[in-house]
Amino acid sequence: MSTMSTMSAHRWIDRLHASLASNFAVLGHPVKYVQLATCGTISTPASPLQSPSWAPRVRTVVFRGLVANGTAHFADDWIKTSPHSVAAAQDELVHLLFVTDLRTRKVTEIKDNPLVEVCWYFSHSREQFRLSGVGVVVDGNASTVSTATSSKVNWQQVRERMWAVQSPAAKQTYLDSKTSDAVPSSDLAKVSSHFGLVYVTVNHVDHLDLRNAESQGSTVWALRQGEYHALRSTL
Ligand SMILES: Cc1cc2nc3c(=O)[nH]c(=O)nc-3n(C[C@H](O)[C@H](O)[C@H](O)COP(=O)(O)O)c2cc1C
Repeated sequence: MSTMSTMSAHRWIDRLHASLASNFAVLGHPVKYVQLATCGTISTPASPLQSPSWAPRVRTVVFRGLVANGTAHFADDWIKTSPHSVAAAQDELVHLLFVTDLRTRKVTEIKDNPLVEVCWYFSHSREQFRLSGVGVVVDGNASTVSTATSSKVNWQQVRERMWAVQSPAAKQTYLDSKTSDAVPSSDLAKVSSHFGLVYVTVNHVDHLDLRNAESQGSTVWALRQGEYHALRSTL
């Protein structure tokens, strides 16, 4: 049950930023942990001969930042900037950024079915954000992103910048041979072929604010003809 209204003064990106910033001040880095849900195929146990069916799959990942208005904002920098720092116009799409090992199952799942959902709970402010969208995996092959939604963004460059800010320990997990010995830093300068950027182009946002006891409803934004429109929903 929802009615359309014009609430352009309240962009979801500004609400998300405010929640991240206020929760980060109290809880620190764990506020960047989010649940990323994908759709995967499984063989139904009842009949292994049946064609595979879709099943939900979810895991924790770290929010690494976002791209809006063609500009990448790293999570740590963005959290500490002033409110309304994303200069996205109302009609600019927002892409959430994650990194992953290209050998993991989520990569195949996103390629098979790009519909994903991210769920965030901010325990200090008691707010939930559910962001649905379309996921794209960026590997080292430039041609794989030639069909990307936002032509203004150089996704390979974003991937390279994401690699550059990984810690040496994190970089080591992407190498072919996992060794406990320290790897020379020269071996870690080049982006590993297993290192993937995942960006999620947000097309629907559901913000539930449990502090707001009056309504107990959520505010919903939906992408319509290239613009995020706020809808107000009640339970
Ligand atoms: C706190 C925490 C943070 C994590 N961050 C990431 C991450 O940023 N990227 C990632 O691919 N996996 C991350 N993982 C591991 C995933 O949850 C998951 O186990 C792994 O990526 C394999 O997932 P898949 O088999 O569904 O692809 C994290 C796990 C935890 C507990």
